Amino acid sequence: MGLSRIAFTNLRNISSLKLDTSARLLLFHGNNGSGKSSLLEGVYLLGRGASFRTKELDYAVSHLSDEMVCFGEAVNEDAGKSFRIGVSRQKTGKLTRVRINGESARTLSELAAALPILIVTPDTFGFINGGPGERRRFVDWGVFHVEHQFKVVWQNWRKLLLQRNKLLKSGNISRSELSAWDNQYVAYSDEISRYRDAYFAELKEILIESLKESSEQTRDIGDKLTITLSNGWYQNDVIHMEQLASSVESDVKKGFTTLGPHRADIKVKVGGVHAKEVLSRGQQKTLITHLYLSQLEILRRRTNQRPIVLIDDVGAELDTGNQVTLLTRMLEKGAQVFVTVLDKQQSEYLFGHFNQEYDTQMFHVEQGAVTKVHN
Ligand SMILES: Nc1ncnc2c1ncn2[C@@H]1O[C@H](COP(=O)(O)OP(=O)(O)OP(=O)(O)O)[C@@H](O)[C@H]1O
Ligand SMILES: [Mg+2]
Repeated sequence: MGLSRIAFTNLRNISSLKLDTSARLLLFHGNNGSGKSSLLEGVYLLGRGASFRTKELDYAVSHLSDEMVCFGEAVNEDAGKSFRIGVSRQKTGKLTRVRINGESARTLSELAAALPILIVTPDTFGFINGGPGERRRFVDWGVFHVEHQFKVVWQNWRKLLLQRNKLLKSGNISRSELSAWDNQYVAYSDEISRYRDAYFAELKEILIESLKESSEQTRDIGDKLTITLSNGWYQNDVIHMEQLASSVESDVKKGFTTLGPHRADIKVKVGGVHAKEVLSRGQQKTLITHLYLSQLEILRRRTNQRPIVLIDDVGAELDTGNQVTLLTRMLEKGAQVFVTVLDKQQSEYLFGHFNQEYDTQMFHVEQGAVTKVHN
């Protein structure tokens, strides 16, 4: 997969942009506030229908306009097919439109399946330091792209969870009423955990391999790493009715379901200690990007899909050696990589390093306008 061109209108400070993006590696440099992250935000929107910077998409629409339109043409090299994706947001109508080849996409997952996109930002640390939501989304994104049944199971489980919570909130709920829901709830939860467990086992293996073969420093991390996925249930690997039944009293008190796949989490330890306590920020970022790389590897092995990877501010926390290693690995995995860099010299350096082997383009971003420097 790769984006061959993009056209953005009224996206933050980008009033109008048309760009040929057919290269494998695209480097964008420019000063603070020039529009680099906005550009990546537009690309991300094409694959996710949502922003990585804000929950409120209206903030991404230019102050000077009511409507933003992001358009992209993607090429699936293996199938020899191209398709068009359009995502627009209108402030007044609070309306987001997503189109694939001119037809309205019914769900965002349709978009996600069409254009797998991963992003690494300076906030990527959140994966280790932040709440569990991001870690669960990471696993689910991976499972979703390789197991086609997963989406339906996940949606069914989610529906049941919401219904169960509604009943719990209503307060007057009998055990027998609840147990009518619970058989199904347990079955779906169990299925989700199995999908996640199988995916995670593969991911873990690839991650350790990837760390061990990358550099001496990452090899050392790989040797000491333990990474585990807890499935959201207290005791066993699989959900049991008894566990659910024993949590009913506290569920009723709290007004929501306390056990289930929505409580799953990933724990990352190095030498038995939480990664954030022992790794430097650069090492944390390297570890997380190796996790992303492992996800790409599974995608490549299982579906032959090549994703688009966005790296915002590649220099944040990573020295030049680590930047090169990261980009090399992503390119080797077949990804098309969009990178933003603050510094022109750094961009020139990366261009010089990769230009021979991979089709590389370098652009300058200034006040929302993008000009080509090299190709
Ligand atoms: N809705 C909006 N309408 C117009 N301009 C906006 C909007 N939201 C943000 N901006 C402005 O867009 C500009 C570009 O922001 P962006 O975050 O893309 O910069 P950047 O190049 O990534 O900078 P940095 O190097 O600091 O990360 C900023 O000046 C910002 O204030
Ligand atoms: Mg930025």
